[in-house]
Amino acid sequence: MTTIVGISGSLRRDSFNSALLRAAATVMPDGAQLVIGSIRDVPLYDGDVEAQGIPPAVAVLKDAVAGADGLLLASPEYNNSIPGVLKNVIDWMSRPGSDIPRIFRGKPVAVMGVSPGGFGTMLAQDAWLSVLRVLGTQPWFGGRLLVARAQNVFGPDGAIVDAAIKEQLQRFVHGFVAFARAVGTKKGG
Ligand code: FNR
Repeated sequence: MTTIVGISGSLRRDSFNSALLRAAATVMPDGAQLVIGSIRDVPLYDGDVEAQGIPPAVAVLKDAVAGADGLLLASPEYNNSIPGVLKNVIDWMSRPGSDIPRIFRGKPVAVMGVSPGGFGTMLAQDAWLSVLRVLGTQPWFGGRLLVARAQNVFGPDGAIVDAAIKEQLQRFVHGFVAFARAVGTKKGG
């Protein structure tokens, strides 16, 4: 079984990005699963808190990603960049620095996103690249998913009602899983 861990960078109950991630779980290819991690209990990063130990919610996410074949981020865009909420989670997951290789090095990562605006988180996705690079991940560049005008894409229950977007999502997810599998095979996994 190929396991991808998905993390949404929004805490909002009716988050479009969380809805996109849940929809991704429904279009996974055979033999693959998307396990959605929770960021709800991750505190703001504080070195003094870290000195007391890695918070349990962070440790859970770290272990999930370490054991997964890939990481899929559903990232909102705030002020043309990364949302602080999700950056905070990734910052926590990069602590202690000595653990970065276990969690991130060589890890296939894909970023997708959705916004009510017209550009579908394009600038946030670009902003993620420097973070993914410094952590030594393997970002997947085989496809992009920039979902714009979110209010037209999801129904009241959060399901995707736009058939073309659903197809794009499926193509994106299948492409990423194929990439994650190829990376795993190269590693001998
Ligand atoms: C936004 N939003 C936004 N959208 C966008 O496309 N580009 C942007 O630069 C911004 N900037 C921005 C800043 C801040 C502080 C907030 C709160 C929001 C709108 C954003 O895309 C919208 O709120 C989404 O609905 C957020 O994603 P979720 O919570 O629906 O997943």
